[in-house]
Amino acid sequence: DVMRELLGLKDLETKLMEKLHIEGVIVVAGDSDLSPWVKKEMGRACVTCMKERLTNGDIVAVTGGTTLAAVAEMMTPDPKQNRILFVPARGGLGEDVKNQANTICAKMAEKALGNYRLLHVPDHLSREAYESLIEEPTVKEVLELIKSCRMVVHGIGDAITMAERRKTSKEDMEKIKERHAVAEAFGYYFNEAGEVVHKVKTVGIQLEDLPRVEHVIAVAGGSSKAKAIQAYMKRAPHSILITDEGAARALLGE
Ligand code: BG6
Repeated sequence: DVMRELLGLKDLETKLMEKLHIEGVIVVAGDSDLSPWVKKEMGRACVTCMKERLTNGDIVAVTGGTTLAAVAEMMTPDPKQNRILFVPARGGLGEDVKNQANTICAKMAEKALGNYRLLHVPDHLSREAYESLIEEPTVKEVLELIKSCRMVVHGIGDAITMAERRKTSKEDMEKIKERHAVAEAFGYYFNEAGEVVHKVKTVGIQLEDLPRVEHVIAVAGGSSKAKAIQAYMKRAPHSILITDEGAARALLGE
């Protein structure tokens, strides 16, 4: 902790809490845009933060992304926590398998020696197909588990980066650009004011569900994500943010 004090990380955390009006911020040293190991440090900090808040039998919903993959990688079992169930936060968002919530969820559960349930919902469904699928008993059961989660752990992305990474249609891409989206989380795209300007239609956690979730942890770093973090956090006052020095300094204009 003396080290964190010396590095000025504590100071950055205090300033960020004030600037973003959120309850908790953890800043790790470095900039994950420049050094890949910084993502793992955010992962480690996130695992600690999760363990401090989890109790036996809790359900944890996770999103995909490379940052969440780092959280999964750093996960370790906790002898005090039994029967933790991991579920993906939302259905398909058009990501490659390695970045999908299902993949991260299974990996995290294995590392934590917990259990997991997956959501098998294809990305682009017609309305009829969608409505009949969510009535399927196995899908319904997992959706109920997701809706009753006590913790959500998710990434935040730069809007254009995310839209490009996913198989976003030309039409949606134009909409995202025209409406000046800067941030993306859970398949929702936000403008600088934190307003939703586009949304990927899928099942699972919706933005409206978040206020009911006891612990919401956002993990995102790198100076390139500063704008995205600032915009998204306008929508998430009860979240805890785990970030890095690169994003923190860019956000504070230091
Ligand atoms: C996605 C999440 O899988 O990861 C998004 O669903 C998030 O909400 C994104 O924006 C972040 O990805 P990364 O690779 O930058 O951690």
